[in-house]
Amino acid sequence: MAFDVAALRQDFPILGRSVHGRPLTYLDNAATSQKPQVVIQALTDYYTQGNANVHRGVHLLSEEATQAFERSREVVARFLGLKESRGCVFVRGATEGINLVAETWGRTHLRAGDEILLTALEHHANIVPWQVAAERSGAKVVVVPVTPRGEVDLEAYRRLLSPRTKLVAFAHVSNALGTVNPAAEMTRLAKAVGATVLIDGCQAAAHFRVELPALGCDFYAFSGHKTFGPTGIGVLWGRPEILDALPPYQFGGDMIRKVDFDGTTFREAPERFEAGTPDIAGAIGLAVALEYFMTRQADAHAHEQKLLAAATERLLAIKGLRLVGEAPEKVAVISFLIEGGHPHDIGTLLDADGIAIRTGHHCCMPLMKHLGIPGTARASFAFYNTLEEVDRLAVSLEKIRKMMA
Ligand code: ALA
Repeated sequence: MAFDVAALRQDFPILGRSVHGRPLTYLDNAATSQKPQVVIQALTDYYTQGNANVHRGVHLLSEEATQAFERSREVVARFLGLKESRGCVFVRGATEGINLVAETWGRTHLRAGDEILLTALEHHANIVPWQVAAERSGAKVVVVPVTPRGEVDLEAYRRLLSPRTKLVAFAHVSNALGTVNPAAEMTRLAKAVGATVLIDGCQAAAHFRVELPALGCDFYAFSGHKTFGPTGIGVLWGRPEILDALPPYQFGGDMIRKVDFDGTTFREAPERFEAGTPDIAGAIGLAVALEYFMTRQADAHAHEQKLLAAATERLLAIKGLRLVGEAPEKVAVISFLIEGGHPHDIGTLLDADGIAIRTGHHCCMPLMKHLGIPGTARASFAFYNTLEEVDRLAVSLEKIRKMMA
């Protein structure tokens, strides 16, 4: 399918709205992406024509809902380059996925003296669950530093890996800086010391093709709402043999094999981790979003890289503007500071021009501390953004820069 960004934008109704009398320039895609009409329609269709509970009924609606829900799992598997879908657990989002692993795997595998290796660029969702797991088990959190360009310091990473390293958890892509980590290489090195590897794929999944077999990790989590799907749905993938050996995360309907007051037995993955009625509409909507994205993925990536190159060049030409995070491998996320201007003021002034960005610590307080800054202004692009929007951002920032000088 040819990549025509103007035509593609027609698929996203919200992109046609205005903000403060200006056309919306939505550059906060790392916080959440917009949804194509096919996803919105899938949610409406489900509730108007297909609503029923899954895995429970003998009636037609329930069978249809079950089929649609399980088909969604197959789509997720295809999206992640997997042959089988059994390791794909539907969760609320990447945060819940990581908490699930920290709670179940962490509780059964971490012991006093073990080390959990994280990087300094992690999102709070990939730090705090491990801190809690470490406190509970007596394990220690060890942090790999980040270079001034915003890359994981691979020398330090190699040095910090040891037979004490029980788990390595890192972001595939930094939400704050856009850095793409060498995930396959990092996983290979972690595996060489016998560590289990979890990758937070939240920011990667919306930008390029993720092939889990090539990465070689044990767990991978991503959120639906960042990949053009609904909020409240996401995926934790785990190696089925690891998942089956873990205790359940929550208890309730659908995850049990047999319940008796004398004792209860549990199903295998994925149902083992899907207690209660799942977000059926969310899973169906997510599958539609992933299918929509998959047909455009390769072109989308090339287009975004053009946006990144153009935006980097334009922003670097603004006097007093400094980029934060200049790794050679980046997705189209640009964090920056303007001399004399607080990021929140930059965000507010851009908003007046209809331009939506995020400002602050981006849920990465340790990274900001590491870089010695309180926060940044961050423009994050998706495949539906345009070079014209890059221009609008640059023109507005130039105006703001003059106001702040
Ligand atoms: N983690 C999301 C962001 O980076 C919310 O904005």
